[in-house]
Amino acid sequence: MYSEKFRLDGKTAFITGGGRGIGLCAAQALAEAGARVVISDVQPDVLEAGRAELAGLGHAVEAVALDVTRPDDVTRMAGGLNARYGAIDVLVANAGIAWPDTGGEEMSDAAWLRVVDVDLNGVFWCCRDFGRHMLGRGSGAIVTVGSMSGLISNRPQRQAHYNAAKAGVHHLTRSLAGEWAAGPAPRATRSSFCIRPRNMARALRCSAARSTWPTRRSTSSGSCVRSPVATCLQKRPWKPTMEGCRP
Ligand SMILES: NC(=O)c1ccc[n+]([C@@H]2O[C@H](COP(=O)([O-])OP(=O)(O)OC[C@H]3O[C@@H](n4cnc5c(N)ncnc54)[C@H](O)[C@@H]3O)[C@@H](O)[C@H]2O)c1
Repeated sequence: MYSEKFRLDGKTAFITGGGRGIGLCAAQALAEAGARVVISDVQPDVLEAGRAELAGLGHAVEAVALDVTRPDDVTRMAGGLNARYGAIDVLVANAGIAWPDTGGEEMSDAAWLRVVDVDLNGVFWCCRDFGRHMLGRGSGAIVTVGSMSGLISNRPQRQAHYNAAKAGVHHLTRSLAGEWAAGPAPRATRSSFCIRPRNMARALRCSAARSTWPTRRSTSSGSCVRSPVATCLQKRPWKPTMEGCRP
């Protein structure tokens, strides 16, 4: 079985924004691969619904509240979970928001700061704090979730804040991968890569797109790999939504 290549028995994975959408799909895929899974989310009702959905599929996951824009909370979460589970082996820094129709000329300070705070700062706090434990142990894997919007200025969306933050995520991923692969603890993170989903509604409508979505290594090899998340998306019905994401 192809999925046997992805076995994660004995490993523990932590996913931000894991209550629904791509994060929940990642959680399901990781659980199916044998990992112990901890999902987190800023919205308690979404978090509980995600936990219940996974429980209904036979996956007993822990659900913990976390707002990724609060660096002190992220630090405490990383310390607490690493102590409780012995190690967090996989981090999926997925939490993100969009505010798709805001022209640059009319964007408020608050909108800009909020999107950058969740989509870029939040990813960094998580990489830093969970990565620190991985470096200490000399093992671990981090997946950040970018976007095609970090590579192109897609139309008709007006979302300079989102595009800029996602471009930041891509280069943050490359930068940390370079630092942590070449640093004093060589190969401390086994891999650090960024998935760049295409527009999900389009990807799910188009089976051709589905067959290649969603992972493409942005670091070392540059090769495309088929991921358990893509497989999971194909198996379970899921409606992409950005509702509730507006700052
Ligand atoms: N859906 C798409 O078409 C698409 C395309 C490209 C990239 N992405 C990226 O994929 C990721 C997931 O997107 P999705 O479509 O599943 O979105 P979604 O809105 O369905 O899920 C995002 C989750 O993140 C949570 N979240 C929001 N702010 C948070 C915070 N401050 N702290 C912790 N959790 C928070 C939300 O409560 C939600 O459960 C995002 O980073 C998004 O930018 C999505």
